[in-house]
Amino acid sequence: MPDDASQQTAQHAAPAGSQPRRHGLGRRPFLTGLAAAALAAPGLRAQRRDERQRERDEEASGFELTTPELAVAGLDEAHDGLVIGHLTDIHIGPRTPDQRVLAAVDALNAARPDIVFLTGDYITRKGDPLERIPDLLGRLQVPAVAVLGNHDHWTDAATITRDLERIGIAVLRNRHTVVQVRGRALAVVGVDDAVSGHDDVADAFKGVARHAPRLVLAHSPPTLDALPPDAGLACFSGHTHGGQIFVAGVTDAFFSRAGQHYLRGHYRHQGNQLYVSRGLGFGKGSTLPRMNADPEVALITLRRLSPPVARQA
Ligand SMILES: [Fe+2]
Repeated sequence: MPDDASQQTAQHAAPAGSQPRRHGLGRRPFLTGLAAAALAAPGLRAQRRDERQRERDEEASGFELTTPELAVAGLDEAHDGLVIGHLTDIHIGPRTPDQRVLAAVDALNAARPDIVFLTGDYITRKGDPLERIPDLLGRLQVPAVAVLGNHDHWTDAATITRDLERIGIAVLRNRHTVVQVRGRALAVVGVDDAVSGHDDVADAFKGVARHAPRLVLAHSPPTLDALPPDAGLACFSGHTHGGQIFVAGVTDAFFSRAGQHYLRGHYRHQGNQLYVSRGLGFGKGSTLPRMNADPEVALITLRRLSPPVARQA
C-alpha cells in the first residue's frame, strides 16, 4: 500500500512545454445516415472496407509522441536542452503489433535525441518471442541504456540482458554508468525492478559522485519514494501503462490501493522528480483494450536550473 505521507507530498503536474503529437491515432469517421445508405453500392462498400483497414493499421502502429520538459538543478551547461527519448513497456509479442515498435524506433531515429532510456517490460511472458527484442531494438541508431521490468524478470532476465548488451545497450541492474553526452559526462543510475523485488537503491548509487546531477531509470514508479531525498534526481519510469483503462478518480484510486500512486506524467516528491510514461505496448491493435491511455513515446527535454546565487556580504 502507498505511504500516506508520500501521497500527500507528491504533486502531479503536466510538465511545461508538453506538446503531444499523435502518430497514426486518427479519429473514426462519423457515418451519417446518408453515407450509410450509400454503402449499399459495391464501390462504396469496398471504399469503406479499405477505410476500416486503414483505421486498423493506424491503431496498430499509432502512439502519441509527447515532448515534456524537466528542469534539473545543477545540470551541466552543455546539457541544457539535452533530449532524452523514453521508450518503455514495449511488451514485444502478441500484445503489441511489431509495426508500432518499428514506428516508434523510426520516430526516435528521426528525432535523434541525445540518448534513449529504455525502462523495462520488453516482453510479457514465457513463450513470447524473445529473439524479437534485439531484432527490433537493434534498429535504434541512438545510444541507449536500459533497466529491466517485472515481466522481464518473470520471463528470462538473463537472456534479455545478454541480448540487449549484445546490441550495445547497457542494462543497469542496480548499478550506474557514466555516458558522454555533448562532450560532457552524465551519470545514469539504474535501479532494478521493485515489483519483482530486484531493486537495491543503495547498490545502484554506489560509487556515483554525490554532487553531480544524476538521472535515474527505474521500471516501477514508486522507486521514487526510495531515492535519496533532496538529491535533485530526475527519475524515468513506466509500468502503469497510464492506467490502461483510465477513468479519472477510479483508475488512479485502484492503482493507488495497489501501491502505484504515480500513474502517468510528471511528479515531484521529497526534492526529486519523476516522469512516468504510459508506455508503448500492451493493447491497441491487439485484443487488449486501452482507453484514455494511448501508447506513448516521450522526447523529454532537460533544462538547466541554475544554482541559487550566493548573497553578497
Ligand atoms: Fe511492468
